[in-house]
Amino acid sequence: MFSKKTVKDVDVRGKRVLVRVDFNVPLAEGSVTDDTRVRAALPTLRYLVDHGARVIVMSHLGRPKGEPDPQYSLRPVRRVLQRLLGRNVVFVDDIVGAEAHEAVDRMVDGEIIMLENVRFNPGEKANDPEFAKALASLADIYVNDAFGAAHRAHASTAGVAQYLPAVAGLLLSREVETLTSMLTDPERPFVAILGGSKVSDKIGVIDRMLDCVDSLLIGGGMCFTFLVAKGVDVGRSLVEEEWIEPARQMMEKALERDVEIMLPVDFVVAEAIEHDSETKVVGREEIPSDMMGLDIGPTTSELFKGAIGMARTIFWNGPMGVFEMKPFETGTREVAMAVARNNRAVSVIGGGDSVAALKKFDLEERVTFVSTGGGASMKLLEGTTLPGVEALMDKDA
Ligand code: 3PG
Repeated sequence: MFSKKTVKDVDVRGKRVLVRVDFNVPLAEGSVTDDTRVRAALPTLRYLVDHGARVIVMSHLGRPKGEPDPQYSLRPVRRVLQRLLGRNVVFVDDIVGAEAHEAVDRMVDGEIIMLENVRFNPGEKANDPEFAKALASLADIYVNDAFGAAHRAHASTAGVAQYLPAVAGLLLSREVETLTSMLTDPERPFVAILGGSKVSDKIGVIDRMLDCVDSLLIGGGMCFTFLVAKGVDVGRSLVEEEWIEPARQMMEKALERDVEIMLPVDFVVAEAIEHDSETKVVGREEIPSDMMGLDIGPTTSELFKGAIGMARTIFWNGPMGVFEMKPFETGTREVAMAVARNNRAVSVIGGGDSVAALKKFDLEERVTFVSTGGGASMKLLEGTTLPGVEALMDKDA
């Protein structure tokens, strides 16, 4: 159960409601190329508008250096929000200055305005109390719906909550509820699939997953560090030397917990990571010394698909290979399709590259839940407290 108050627990009618969303979306030539995060914020924004709130939307975009930088302006995102909501959204080229206050003063119930990128102010990332207070002075209620940024202790994600009644938006509460209940009360068998290049990014999640899953399938670049820990010669494949010992400890823990860790048994190998690389499939003990594994092989895909097909809860984070390139995309596609095909399981996708893979293979609509937070979902799953959630009012307060 989500332990924080949400927008549904407060009376928002006629109130100025400052909503932190995560509109950190990809842009190309001034246009939004993926509107998933904007769509994800719509339920909260619609709820507030329908309940007569005066909605002030704020977000970060990219990593500007604490000062205005036109390439990170939220103006193009305003256009997308306006189109998706089917209503006018006023853009304010300001955050906490006179222009912002004047725009807020002019608002009527049910109206939406959008402030400029909060990271244009150096107080945002510094979580400066003065900036947090200035943000708070714009509104009567603060809503955090920016799950993707909830692992950041910044002024607009955490600091501002000290100065206003602070509640969760519908996206943030759903994200936290889905990810935590998956760990505490999963239907079994519970199968987690982890990939991506680095063990160092995932070790906390692996550790926590071993307390609750039945099987852990490991692919992607990070599997080679595990294979080296087992004494396998992996050629020129990616290995994080300092993570070999932690990887060995994780395999020991799995043994103690009776969790099956499945590592690839074959690979697609090549000499270089190129779109036209010449590839071959080899067993994991036969990786040539001048080559590297860049995707799981067909036998591994079959083994992984078998485990995924029997699961009743599936968590997937991280690709099985360099799926952005044709010669190395098959393993990730096969795993994505197996997850999508298992419609008896609850399937949760943990943000980041696995979401990009689902989109590439057009399978996004066929899983139960796709998290909008890459870093935030990993932090939550490894058991780290998220400052953006922690700062909100408790349900029973
Ligand atoms: C994300 O895209 O993961 C979030 O929006 C957080 O962005 P950040 O890593 O720049 O803080």
